[in-house]
Amino acid sequence: APLKVTKILCIGAGYVGGPTCAVIALKCPHITVTIVDLNQARIDAWNSADFKLPIYEPGLEDVVRQCRGRNLFFSTDVEKGILDAELIFVSVNTPTKKSGVGAGFAADLNYVELATRQIAAVATSSKIVVEKSTVPCRTAESMRTILEANSKPNCRFDILSNPEFLAEGTAISDLFKPDRVLIGSLQTPEGKAACAALAGVYANWVPEHAILTVGLWSSELSKLAANAMLAQRISSVNALSAICEATGANIDEVANAVGYDSRVGPKFLKASVGFGGSCFQKDILNLVYLSESLHLPEVAAYWRQVVEMNEYQKRRFSKRVVDTLFNTITGKRIAVLGFAFKADTGDTRESAAITIIRDFQSERAFVNIYDPQVAETQIWADLAEASPTVAPESMKKQVKICSSALEACKDAEAVVIATEWKEFKEIDWAHVYKHMKKPAFVFDGRLLVDAAKLTEIGFKVTTIGRPA
Ligand code: NAD
Ligand code: UGA
Repeated sequence: APLKVTKILCIGAGYVGGPTCAVIALKCPHITVTIVDLNQARIDAWNSADFKLPIYEPGLEDVVRQCRGRNLFFSTDVEKGILDAELIFVSVNTPTKKSGVGAGFAADLNYVELATRQIAAVATSSKIVVEKSTVPCRTAESMRTILEANSKPNCRFDILSNPEFLAEGTAISDLFKPDRVLIGSLQTPEGKAACAALAGVYANWVPEHAILTVGLWSSELSKLAANAMLAQRISSVNALSAICEATGANIDEVANAVGYDSRVGPKFLKASVGFGGSCFQKDILNLVYLSESLHLPEVAAYWRQVVEMNEYQKRRFSKRVVDTLFNTITGKRIAVLGFAFKADTGDTRESAAITIIRDFQSERAFVNIYDPQVAETQIWADLAEASPTVAPESMKKQVKICSSALEACKDAEAVVIATEWKEFKEIDWAHVYKHMKKPAFVFDGRLLVDAAKLTEIGFKVTTIGRPA
């Protein structure tokens, strides 16, 4: 009979480790789940009495309220966590390397390796170690080598790959009802037994047919492949949006017509100001690096183009704003609605809004920013990182962070919708119009608002994928 897991540790209490393991705790009341992180502030927030959790995710607070203190615990005591656990998820960050070999492309595996080495150093009994972070192919192999080289007698480590497919903003519903759970293992009896043990955890709420078991490398590559193909859809539709703007076709109509083909399907075909988020770009660059390392330059070039198209889309959007505002935005006030990389999250990593605002700043425009979830300190940090040569004082002269959409739009010459927050659809646009400079422009980077209605109010509306 497969090992019945009763004690799980998750290393990394971020966007993936937190929601994923909280849902495991909810669905498996017989399993004790501990989530550890080195970041004290993050753990304190997970433990906060008023449930001010470190990440905003619809439905998450409810899950944590049900389990915290029952069979879900948050801590900074990594060692104790390792000692107690039978199964350990490694869910640490794997950002793109900023320097050294593969800088700008390869994944920085330092955090994964440190966590792995700590498991080896601390463990006094056998563990199943699960790679949850998104990693290049063969990382599991490296983890295994490190663990085996450093283990104590009578400790065996079985490595599994179990990539996460949740999307931010819908993490909890994705976790409740995943399209699939993917588990990769060595095809040895021990590997298969470890795989069965993890499958047994998910089987508490995921139907058996949705739990796919494959080899380690297939599992690792499938994660990169899934993100690459999802991002490729967006870049494809965004490439078409440029043709629409030039010809008079309407990208929503085109995407709808194409998506009606059941082989293509209707989802994930929304043209936008460009995809953001911590993973699409990172994972594609990772795939590019992998392809190059394997001497497959044509494959590398193919995937790189998905990222290049995304950069082009952001640039094209900024330029369209400048062109439409009579070729200059110097000294003009522009309201940017939304700063998160998508709606229903406070996450700003690689958000298209950051690039656009940087472009507006370099044209010496004034920018008002409003986002319902992103903390002010986060916005300042992101803008500073995007324009390292701009002094903080001049940044604060150029940029104002507002506490409502109406405040951001007041006295502006143009409104730019950068994130598809539902509340932007429901703003009193007539009121906004009254308080803006004229002519009042709206640039819809998310196909969010009713352009005809806004035009009726008096706005000059520019929409992605529609001609002027
Ligand atoms: P994150 O930065 O939000 O969280 C990672 C956490 O790990 C941080 O809080 C960090 O302090 C902690 N950490 C790093 N090293 C540690 C160590 N040695 N011991 C204890 N804690 C440590 O990152 P994330 O968004 O949760 O992503 C984690 C991984 O999951 C990445 O590989 C990412 O590619 C992948 N992923 C992310 C998403 C997503 O939507 N964000 C979805 C699927 C997969
Ligand atoms: C994405 C994938 O959807 C997840 O399956 C995956 O687990 C995750 O990456 C990851 O590995 O991190 P996420 O980045 O959280 O999830 O959010 P998405 O919904 O995929 O959106 C990514 C970006 O694409 C956002 O900026 C979004 O606005 C944009 N997008 C999405 C579009 O421009 N058009 C669309 O049709 C869909």
